[in-house]
Amino acid sequence: MKNSTTIVIFGASGDLTKRKLIPALFNLYRKGRMPSEFSILGFAGTSYKDDTFCAMLRENLAEHADYEFTDEEWQTFAPHLHYHTDKAIDPESFERLKGELERLEKGPANRLFYLATPPQFFPTIVEGIGRIGLTKEEIGWRRVVVEKPFGTDLKSALELNQALHEYLREHQIYRIDHYLGKETVQNILYFRFANTIFEPVWNRNYIDHVQITVAEEVGVEHRGGYYDEVGILRDMFQNHLLQLLTLVAMEPPSSFKANALREERAKVLSAIRPIPSDRIWQNSVLGQYRGYRQEYRVSANSHTATYAALRLHIDNWRWQGVPFYLRSGKLLKEKASEILIQFKQPPLAMFPVPEWYKMVPNILALCIQPNESIHLRFEAKAPDTAYNTRSVNMEFNYEASFGPGTLPEAYERLLLDSINGDASLFIRGDQTEISWGIIDPFIHAWDSPDAPPLSIYTPGSMGPAEADRFIEYDGRNWLRGCIECCD
Ligand code: BG6
Repeated sequence: MKNSTTIVIFGASGDLTKRKLIPALFNLYRKGRMPSEFSILGFAGTSYKDDTFCAMLRENLAEHADYEFTDEEWQTFAPHLHYHTDKAIDPESFERLKGELERLEKGPANRLFYLATPPQFFPTIVEGIGRIGLTKEEIGWRRVVVEKPFGTDLKSALELNQALHEYLREHQIYRIDHYLGKETVQNILYFRFANTIFEPVWNRNYIDHVQITVAEEVGVEHRGGYYDEVGILRDMFQNHLLQLLTLVAMEPPSSFKANALREERAKVLSAIRPIPSDRIWQNSVLGQYRGYRQEYRVSANSHTATYAALRLHIDNWRWQGVPFYLRSGKLLKEKASEILIQFKQPPLAMFPVPEWYKMVPNILALCIQPNESIHLRFEAKAPDTAYNTRSVNMEFNYEASFGPGTLPEAYERLLLDSINGDASLFIRGDQTEISWGIIDPFIHAWDSPDAPPLSIYTPGSMGPAEADRFIEYDGRNWLRGCIECCD
């Protein structure tokens, strides 16, 4: 008899379930990608019956699903949804959950436990299900998906990993970074390793520097209370920006299997040069948008940064001497996640150009969102001039090549992979720890009494002027590859 699959969502009455998880699971179902027999069991303290839970999800779907669906499709999906009202705090509640699972499954089953609760409940839940044997892989697989944030610093990440490992083996733990679920992010590896022409120049001999930007147009919105405790370095850098960096910088893995891929990503993180505490301020700029302190649930004298720019170096043969500039901020001019690779200048301007004339270096722009595309900027002779050159683009655009609406939501990929047991796009325990080890010194230095004041920036700008001076100090500028190219 084939195992059925049960997905238990802890924190099922929350935002993530309505906005991301159910729309993703429903779309996987519509595409015929869910296991032949499956149940989704929502678990949360808010009281719902199965039918009111379904009705609430259906109502939200209209707003959050970015695809068209029919009511008939929903009607066939809805019977898979169940809800269990309980508080995941005491041993009895987990016993009740066990009873509910046995009632639902009626035979051998695989189980995916999704932790969509606030992070302080992660250890309690894993202990709760672990103690009563729900994580034991005897009659099927048992996996736990852990949402972010994974700790708040190295110490808490170590403790969390330890708490998880009490009841789970590493292969059962799926730590999410939703950036890895984005098609355009996965494509970085295909771009690099499914083509022969890029890899030979992908190193210190040809690349001048790399910029990774994740700019957001939105501010902290209703999340002021959470954000004020966390700030940009924990919210975006420890996870998303460092993961993007690993994909740009990693060596080709020996295979496309989870272990090989994750090993190469971990190696990049381990090679990031530690910055001594007295050099942190030369290697970073932190800012706060004007008006942040007036946001809902933000402290009136908050020192939380909503913008950061960092300079990192990777100490290995491929990247020695190539700076990686990372920046991210809230309430900026526009939403743009992009990776820009600036190549070195040609060694000699042999054309009959005046002495002052500077050749423009090539730039490769990997545009993650919202203009999902890749652009290679190179120089062309401007027609009907003696020697003038002009920058032009070679372009690949996802929508133009693959059609509109072909890019799935990141959670679809991640949920499917966790059901299928492919951990390639998830973070291994040691990676979370190494990442915190990189970001912690920045957090500590900027939290210390000697720290310079945060640079205040105007909402709708591209960040503080200090961040421009920071990169100009190295003789470089922030590049806006994707926006300029797509205008
Ligand atoms: C989340 C952060 O992880 O990523 C948010 O907590 C941020 O603050 C979001 O807005 C950005 O994700 P995306 O997919 O919209 O770029």
